[in-house]
Amino acid sequence: MALLEGKVAIVTGAGRGIGREEALLMARHGAKIVVNDLGGHFDGTGQSRSPAEEVVKEIRAAGGEAVANFESVTDFKAAKRIFECAIDNFGKLNIVVNNAGILRDRMIFNMSEEDWDAVIAVHLKGSFNVSRHACTYWREQHKLGNHLNGRIIMTSSDSGLLGNAGQSNYGAAKAAVAAMAIIIDREMARYGVTANAIAPVARTRMTVEGVPSSMFSASESKEQFDPFDPANVAPVVAWLASDDAKDVHGEVFRSGLGGVWILKGWTTAAMVAQKATWDPIELGKRLKEELAKGITQKETLGNVIKSVLA
Ligand SMILES: NC(=O)c1ccc[n+]([C@@H]2O[C@H](COP(=O)([O-])OP(=O)(O)OC[C@H]3O[C@@H](n4cnc5c(N)ncnc54)[C@H](O)[C@@H]3O)[C@@H](O)[C@H]2O)c1
Repeated sequence: MALLEGKVAIVTGAGRGIGREEALLMARHGAKIVVNDLGGHFDGTGQSRSPAEEVVKEIRAAGGEAVANFESVTDFKAAKRIFECAIDNFGKLNIVVNNAGILRDRMIFNMSEEDWDAVIAVHLKGSFNVSRHACTYWREQHKLGNHLNGRIIMTSSDSGLLGNAGQSNYGAAKAAVAAMAIIIDREMARYGVTANAIAPVARTRMTVEGVPSSMFSASESKEQFDPFDPANVAPVVAWLASDDAKDVHGEVFRSGLGGVWILKGWTTAAMVAQKATWDPIELGKRLKEELAKGITQKETLGNVIKSVLA
């Protein structure tokens, strides 16, 4: 059954890795796809048309419809052109998958202003830019009686949700896009729009070149299920993009390895209260008692991967 028949989707950064798999799967499910990709290196330098063009070729070869777009999501006006590419080629827009990403890993004491700005620009501002044009359009169309069931899927990361040393720029942006999904959802639900986020786990050039790590190594045999295949990330995105997921609002899912986790964000783990202003010494004593109970112990991505592969 085709889940996305008649839908039009923009997938940013769809020339490679996870975005490519999302575009291919959504096209197989009937969506017409704007394959956006600047085609740069994993650190955001350079550009090339071929990654987006190749994915468009693959989609067309399989009988789907797609068009390539090479704009950078970092630029507000360029993001408008990504949006217009959907309207000009396919007449409407239903789905935005904000997936484009780069890495500039440094410890905080070594991070340059440029490394900070470049990562925030792609992940955080880029996700705002494309979502902003789409939401303006969905609201206008809704007022005209044209209900497009808009869908936004943000791409967060365990780096932002759990924290990862060396990624204060990237993790801050990724935590922010998860928050942005929740907030945009609250603002846009009345127009039939949902916004959700995923935190992928997959082997792509970002996890191979960007973070050389045995955690993401390939399966040994071709016949065996490859848990780190980026194709394993895409199904939850295709479903969230569909009308069937109309009641899923402001959720964050980890996806990959054959698993989909429903994540829960900041919730109260414990609290201390009294009907008076705290004395800081007394407060410290009480907080230490609560913290000693281990209530703030956090998941790590390494443990998550180990548990699912066990
Ligand atoms: N691979 C993982 O395990 C993992 C984990 C957590 C989050 N993510 C996120 O998933 C997303 C996809 O990453 P990936 O692993 O497939 O990496 P990737 O490098 O294979 O793909 C990212 C794509 O984004 C494109 N891109 C970069 N800057 C752009 C810009 N300004 N405008 C348009 N396109 C741009 C790149 O050209 C590239 O094709 C990213 O947002 C990444 O942060 C990946």
